[in-house]
Amino acid sequence: NTYDFGLVGLGVMGRNFILNVADNGFTAFGNDLDQEKVNALIEEGGDKSKVNADVDAAKFVASLSAPRKIMLLVPAGKVVDIVIESLLPYLDEGDIIIDGGNSFFTDTDRREAYLKEKGINFFGAGVSGGAKGARKGPSIMPGGSREAYQFVKPIFEAVSAKYKGEPCVTYLGPKSAGNYVKMVHNGIEYGLMQLTSEIYDLLKKAGNLSNQELHKTFDTWSKGRLQSFLVEITATIFDQKDDLTDGDLVDMILDKAKQKGTGKWTSQNAMDLGIPVPTIDIAVSMREISALKDERIKADALYDRPTPENVVKDSLVKKAEAALYFAFIITYAQGMHQLADASKEYGYELELGEIAKIWRAGCIIRAALLADITEAFKADAELPNLLVSPSFVSKVKETVDSARELVAYGANNGIPLPGLSNALTYFDAYTSNRLPLNLIQAQRDFFGSHTYERLDRDGIFHTEWES
Ligand code: 6PG
Repeated sequence: NTYDFGLVGLGVMGRNFILNVADNGFTAFGNDLDQEKVNALIEEGGDKSKVNADVDAAKFVASLSAPRKIMLLVPAGKVVDIVIESLLPYLDEGDIIIDGGNSFFTDTDRREAYLKEKGINFFGAGVSGGAKGARKGPSIMPGGSREAYQFVKPIFEAVSAKYKGEPCVTYLGPKSAGNYVKMVHNGIEYGLMQLTSEIYDLLKKAGNLSNQELHKTFDTWSKGRLQSFLVEITATIFDQKDDLTDGDLVDMILDKAKQKGTGKWTSQNAMDLGIPVPTIDIAVSMREISALKDERIKADALYDRPTPENVVKDSLVKKAEAALYFAFIITYAQGMHQLADASKEYGYELELGEIAKIWRAGCIIRAALLADITEAFKADAELPNLLVSPSFVSKVKETVDSARELVAYGANNGIPLPGLSNALTYFDAYTSNRLPLNLIQAQRDFFGSHTYERLDRDGIFHTEWES
């Protein structure tokens, strides 16, 4: 028997992905070092002629049809290299390996070049949507050889999420394009999550909303322009009772956010490229500040904080909705801007409209806004920033004042809104035709003869400043 698709790593994601492949009429074979995981898959798969698995790499590879399509869903890092080495002795020229994990993009470039020498096609394919997405339809972001993609395409298109019938997967570009796009997806994810948590804080402290009211508020929002996976799950979270006490679960969860690195990589690489993504940067910093819980407790005792002045609930909720929408737009704008620049820098040839399109369903940052972003890039593929797209200009004009009011309220009342205020300052700076950085140029020239350019004539100037 030869199987259509192979998958290494039968953890929750791997098992769910392979069952999804089988649901869509393809035969699939799994591999994992853990015999129990192999057995569990065989049992769940039912018919062995459709879903089978083995711990032995040689048997695994031998059971696949040519060119072999082998997806890895294993932890990013060294494990990916180890798995590749374990498969290599049995592979033939033209076979395809697809890394479905959150690998760092330069690792993908290295692996792609190494495997190319051996005639093996390597894909970095970000997969988003968590365990449920893997089972029912994730968004898939593949990058690698365009020719080899043709072999993977029918399977990926079948298993991916669908937005109005259109598959949430497309070939994105060469080399590590897929991993890079997934990395920025995660950076945006960090930004949206940080913003959502700030708005929760504000509604709770300024408006005294109970968890049930928060549940209802987010639930209503999730049916309007803020419709998105993250707003939907937020509504559900506020409704969750705690099994261990008789309170609500959200109130019992420790306020220290963990991270696996993809948000930080997005920020780090944006710095390398010289592209500002401050809403993503601050989302990473806030996870870091949250981790300093013991220090925060001590510092809290040293300072007084204003008691938040209560505001009328209805108008607060209205403004919060608008401000969150505004800041979501800014976060997507920053992420797309980074992708546009990275595409030039790394030769990915990314089509931003296509990326927005495959994010409309399946992935963690799916949102009604992504349909609008898709349209904006369809209208102008070279759009330098969403903020200059006509359809976004009106959306921003309508909501920015709410962001201003809430940022001011947060500052006056000691409620930290770093994501929202960064989104606002990014907007104010990006849309300013004159920034005060002429002064920085003057200072640089003053103390270091670093020279400056002028508004009124071309050339490079230096002044002997009077000291
Ligand atoms: C996805 C997610 C996923 C990521 C988690 C956790 O698109 O399905 O982005 O890939 O691993 O969101 O990320 P952190 O642990 O860094 O928060």
